[in-house]
Amino acid sequence: MTPTGATTGQTTFLTAFTGWTTMEPEATQNPPADAPSRRSFFWWLTAGASAVAAVAAGIPLLGYFLSTRKRDAKWINLGPGSAFPVAETRMKTFENTLKEPWDGMTANTGVYVRNLGKDKDQKDRFLVLAVNCAHLGCPVAWFAESGLFMCPCHGGVYYANGERASGPPPHGMFHCDWKVDKKGQLWVQAPHYPTEADPLVKDNKPKV
Ligand code: FES
Repeated sequence: MTPTGATTGQTTFLTAFTGWTTMEPEATQNPPADAPSRRSFFWWLTAGASAVAAVAAGIPLLGYFLSTRKRDAKWINLGPGSAFPVAETRMKTFENTLKEPWDGMTANTGVYVRNLGKDKDQKDRFLVLAVNCAHLGCPVAWFAESGLFMCPCHGGVYYANGERASGPPPHGMFHCDWKVDKKGQLWVQAPHYPTEADPLVKDNKPKV
């Protein structure tokens, strides 16, 4: 290192007393011909990061399609249809046969059943509704005095027939599939967690 403005004699003097020496400019080092250029390095870096992001984004999408695949129907016996009084709504609880080992208490669920009486052909008619709110899935409560279902989470309200009355739910409650066998037993199809994309029955239409 040479102080600015020093002459050759001064340099010799400083070298003798300080040990400073003149630094020679470094020789220009040319990279080997086969070394990757900076541009190709960043290209591969970007491509790798894009691939990782694509995989990360694809996993939830894959889960969505797998969750909406057709399930084997499982049915749960709710007992004799005649046990449900006409024009009254009753909660019927059961252990969901669609449960997973890790579901724990949440496997205990239920449906709301309203006996609509018989049609002109003497066939039973029922309204069977999921307990999950159509907004974010909280279990709704039935209030017979007011004839309304109410959601404790954000104030969603539904009429007795399951149609939306007010609040944030985008539509009425989710309908369940049901049937009555030859012995008069009422069955409900084991309900999965209903969503807009994956309701419990096609187009969320009531059976009757
Ligand atoms: S979850 Fe029921 S109103 Fe939001």
